[in-house]
Amino acid sequence: MARDDDKNYIITIDGPAGSGKSTTAKEVARRLGFLHLDSGAMYRAATLLVLHKGLESAPTDSLVRAIAQAEIELDYSDNVLRVLLNATDVTQKIRGPEVTAAIAPVAANPKIRHILVAKQRNIAHNTNVVAEGRDMGTVVFPDADLKIFMIASIAERAERRYNELAAKGIKVDFDGLMNEIGERDRNDSNRLFSPLKRAADAVELDTTGKTIEEQVQFVICKAMECGVPIPA
Ligand code: DC
Repeated sequence: MARDDDKNYIITIDGPAGSGKSTTAKEVARRLGFLHLDSGAMYRAATLLVLHKGLESAPTDSLVRAIAQAEIELDYSDNVLRVLLNATDVTQKIRGPEVTAAIAPVAANPKIRHILVAKQRNIAHNTNVVAEGRDMGTVVFPDADLKIFMIASIAERAERRYNELAAKGIKVDFDGLMNEIGERDRNDSNRLFSPLKRAADAVELDTTGKTIEEQVQFVICKAMECGVPIPA
């Protein structure tokens, strides 16, 4: 993945929940032959561990110790991203509503962030990555070759989530979804450590009304402008 001259390339995509980061990051990574570093999956796996061990109300130190001792890995064999928690595949489980509801205090804890940031930098150490999350361009990879900050209206993000769930046969209340997304935005943006915010040198991409292909093309064009090697 890294070129002969040892330069490895980093593209960061940050933004709020439902802005289109994941789908775009995954597809850009696939087209460029880069790894898709899904940092949210790591916070989700850490939260699942907390729930499994019943540590929701545990003192911070024992919580941090449990996460420091756990193996949280992103496994890329067969070109599919799998999330492993202590060698168990938790790729599906971490997407459940109980994890989403319990994540805010885990993601707000600076010691836990410190552990996960080290893992994220380690993954990108020798490899080209498209790193997706909330603080990829601001904290984790401040020298990234290209930083994208994705936004979209709350109504559009709620509609996307509604359609995603409807496709799985899950019917939810639309207004409830809007409130949930607003709450996640507040949690992500107002926390003290590594809040969601646009890096000063990030390019903003408003995905409201845009197709996935348009979003992917936007990122790839910007990557070309930044000298990122694009496969023919
Ligand atoms: O991207 P996602 O929705 O899967 O992320 C899940 C949660 O993890 C999100 O509510 C905020 C947190 N997160 C974070 O704090 N920092 C990151 N770099 C990525 C995610």
